[in-house]
Amino acid sequence: MGRSINLEGKVAMITGASSGLGKRFAQVLSQAGAKVVLASRRVERLKELRAEIEAGGGAAHVVSLDVTDYQSIRSAVAHAETEAGTIDILVNNSGVSTTQKLADVTPADFEYVFDTNTRGAFFVAQEVAKRMIMRGSGGSKPAYRIINIASVAGLSVLPQIGLYGISKAAVVHMTKAMALEWGRHGINVNAICPGYIDTEINHHHWSTEQGQKLIAMLPRHRVGTPADLDGLLLLLAADESAFMNGSIITADDGFALT
Ligand SMILES: NC(=O)c1ccc[n+]([C@@H]2O[C@H](COP(=O)([O-])OP(=O)(O)OC[C@H]3O[C@@H](n4cnc5c(N)ncnc54)[C@H](OP(=O)(O)O)[C@@H]3O)[C@@H](O)[C@H]2O)c1
Repeated sequence: MGRSINLEGKVAMITGASSGLGKRFAQVLSQAGAKVVLASRRVERLKELRAEIEAGGGAAHVVSLDVTDYQSIRSAVAHAETEAGTIDILVNNSGVSTTQKLADVTPADFEYVFDTNTRGAFFVAQEVAKRMIMRGSGGSKPAYRIINIASVAGLSVLPQIGLYGISKAAVVHMTKAMALEWGRHGINVNAICPGYIDTEINHHHWSTEQGQKLIAMLPRHRVGTPADLDGLLLLLAADESAFMNGSIITADDGFALT
């Protein structure tokens, strides 16, 4: 008999579920049996995804969330837990990017990228973790999971997206700090560092001359699809990864080796 990851009975909140990786993460966690909470600003899109998940027999809830707004984070997490039950798994995925040389970065660019990718990711994780810590283990084995979506750009310096890389390097360090501090409360905090995956954040780039040159430089001359992260996501969400805490895992088709 085959063995598969079963998330039945778990509640998973996915930020940035309205497109790209977050949408796929929600579909995959739902297929594995989790009740999912879809969170972002474009609520109409989340409702479409909820309908799709429900049509497939899954359970999904929609919450409005702007990660740049601390009050929005607090009310979204509270709303999520009222609607769906206490959160077991957080996929901390919302993110934005800009393209420019460091010398051209304005304070507005800096705030835009850091308020979402770094400050936003920090306070979403903190709000969810505070509630997990308060609940404690309750006598049973807790299997809380926080999965931060960083980037290979947070590990290596990539041209034109230096500011984005700095914001994601902070997410890598944040993951380790949270893992150390929250591990004893039964919360495993790990990060996925994807390479280039074709989503709305970069889709416009791949048909340009620069984009084509970049693809030619990649080890297997291809960008990924959101489905390429399915296995890693499920592993980090599962009870079976209990001994993984503070792990920073690349999923980049070998790009970091170049
Ligand atoms: N695609 C790649 O090659 C790649 C590689 C490495 C890492 N990543 C990371 O993967 C994550 C997902 O990106 P993606 O590729 O799926 O891009 P995407 O399709 O553009 O999705 C980004 C998501 O972030 C959400 N978001 C942006 N600002 C937000 C805010 N203020 N509050 C709440 N949600 C917000 C968006 O939702 P709303 O607009 O509805 O709010 C959207 O669902 C990001 O953290 C990105 O940095 C992507």
